[in-house]
Amino acid sequence: MASRATSGKAGGATAAATRLYHLAEQHRKAGRPKRAIALYRELLQAMPQHLAALEGLEALLEAEGDGEGASATHCQRMALEAENAYAIGKALASEGEHGRAASFFERAIALQPDYRKAHWRLGESYSYLKRPEDVLRCYRRCLELDPRDGDARYMIAALGGADAPSRAPEAYVKHYFDNYAGTFDTHLCKDLDYCGPDVLFDYAKRAIGKRKTRFDILDIGCGTGLAGKKFRGLAKSLAGVDLSPKMLAQAKALAVYEQLHLAEATAFLAGMPAGCFDLMIACDSLVYIGDLAPVMAAATDALRPGGFFLLSLEKGQAPGFALQASGRYAHHPDYLPGVIQDRLSIAAAGEEVLRREYGAPVIELVYALVKAAP
Ligand SMILES: C[S@@+](CC[C@H](N)C(=O)[O-])C[C@H]1O[C@@H](n2cnc3c(N)ncnc32)[C@H](O)[C@@H]1O
Repeated sequence: MASRATSGKAGGATAAATRLYHLAEQHRKAGRPKRAIALYRELLQAMPQHLAALEGLEALLEAEGDGEGASATHCQRMALEAENAYAIGKALASEGEHGRAASFFERAIALQPDYRKAHWRLGESYSYLKRPEDVLRCYRRCLELDPRDGDARYMIAALGGADAPSRAPEAYVKHYFDNYAGTFDTHLCKDLDYCGPDVLFDYAKRAIGKRKTRFDILDIGCGTGLAGKKFRGLAKSLAGVDLSPKMLAQAKALAVYEQLHLAEATAFLAGMPAGCFDLMIACDSLVYIGDLAPVMAAATDALRPGGFFLLSLEKGQAPGFALQASGRYAHHPDYLPGVIQDRLSIAAAGEEVLRREYGAPVIELVYALVKAAP
């Protein structure tokens, strides 16, 4: 009933707008511009996105010598056309049509050169189209438009246009995954063949062996809870920590975690009592941290002696770690053993493909670490 009443109201407004528009057109054609202008204005007050009314009003104001009014209406029309082009670009990008999406974002920018969101989205489309110079230009423009834009600053560094920080800024991770949360599971599992939780689970089984114990588990960067779901059967208790409220909301809906914490992983771990977990998972989440020393030290303190830490990293060629154009860090195979030193030992390690990117497999380093018993 309610929805019929609402749609009836909306339908009534559209019918009234159509009547006003035809009336305005009749007056315009009959040479009564002032009456037509008043009707266009009345219509636009009720329906500011009526493009044809904006066009009609702009032309009449120009013809009547009201340059200021015509120019204000022109700006309104350009902004509206830009928004429409942006919305089409966004829809095309979500369908994976990045070439066509880019042309709509370009159109939005041609209409509204300061349209920051369109520059950002255009940058994303260009990265799918493998046009790194253009991607960099887009993010630089975003930073010019808003010098406080930390996300743009980070992506410029990722593309080699500035020095890289030692880890992704918290705000960047939060924005990125809040935007991603709604489509994360489908995109990752169906389109990118993600199998991180399954692979980490196999490594966990190898390290744990035949023991039948249940564990107090922490899922670091738990996201929507894909790894939590997989490890639930091993858990006495299961907690998750993540920076993105929208990812955590999805994890909560799974109802497999006893506790979920909205926090940065290193800070969270540093605030936990020593030895409070006996199994930790960091599945595809430490790739947002370059310098792993602080997080590994805090995690080791929070791990019980004899406890396990399962994690994945993207494999890098450069020594140490390097920020990549994707906004994620890659770590050299020699890096983690140097960081954990003798506080943790490697029970199992290997190179695995956990997902694809732009159609190609991503090689990851997977580790099952054990904290030495006293
Ligand atoms: C690619 S998702 C992986 C999610 C989950 N582990 C899985 O395997 O599906 C990475 C997650 O790590 C979180 N994350 C990245 N850096 C983080 C940090 N420093 N502290 C807490 N969460 C972080 C992100 O918010 C995101 O939800």
